[in-house]
Amino acid sequence: MNILMVCLGNICRSPLAHGVLEHKAKEAGLALSVDSAGTGSWHIGDPPDRRSVAVAQQYGVDISAQRGRQFSKADFGRYDHILVMDRANLRDVNAIAPDAAARAKVTLFLDDQEVPDPYWDDALFEPTYQLIDKRCTQLIALWKKEG
Ligand code: 4NP
Repeated sequence: MNILMVCLGNICRSPLAHGVLEHKAKEAGLALSVDSAGTGSWHIGDPPDRRSVAVAQQYGVDISAQRGRQFSKADFGRYDHILVMDRANLRDVNAIAPDAAARAKVTLFLDDQEVPDPYWDDALFEPTYQLIDKRCTQLIALWKKEG
C-alpha cells in the first residue's frame, strides 16, 4: 500500500507523519510505502524544519534525509491513500483531482479534525508530534486488521 502525507510546506507536519508512520510500519512488520508532499512550492528540495527534525529525533525517528516536494496531479495515480493535515490542504488537493476516484483517496489525516500548523510557534512541535504519533498507531492497527 502506498501512502502520501500532505501539508502546506512539506517541512513541518507531513514530514513528521511520513517519518512516524514509516517507523511504526517497520516495527509492526506492515508493508507500507510512505511519502510526503506540500501543496505549496516554497520548500521544494529543502530538508524538514529543524524543530520537526529535533522532536522526531527525541523519539528515535530520523526524518533528516527527507526533502520537500510539491504535490502534483500525478500523485493521484501513485498512492492508495492521500492523507492531508488540514482543510485548506483538502481543498487544494481536491481542486486538482482528475475524477471522483481520485477524490475518494483524499481524507483528513485525523479523520474529523485538523493538525494545526506549528510553523509560527515553537511550543507546538511537541503536541503536534503527539497528535501525529497517536494517529499513526491507530492507522497501523486499522491497516493490519484489514490485512
Ligand atoms: P507545514 O508548515 O505545512 O506543516 O510544513 C508550514 C511550513 C512553512 C510554511 C507554511 C506552513 N511557509 O509558509 O513557508
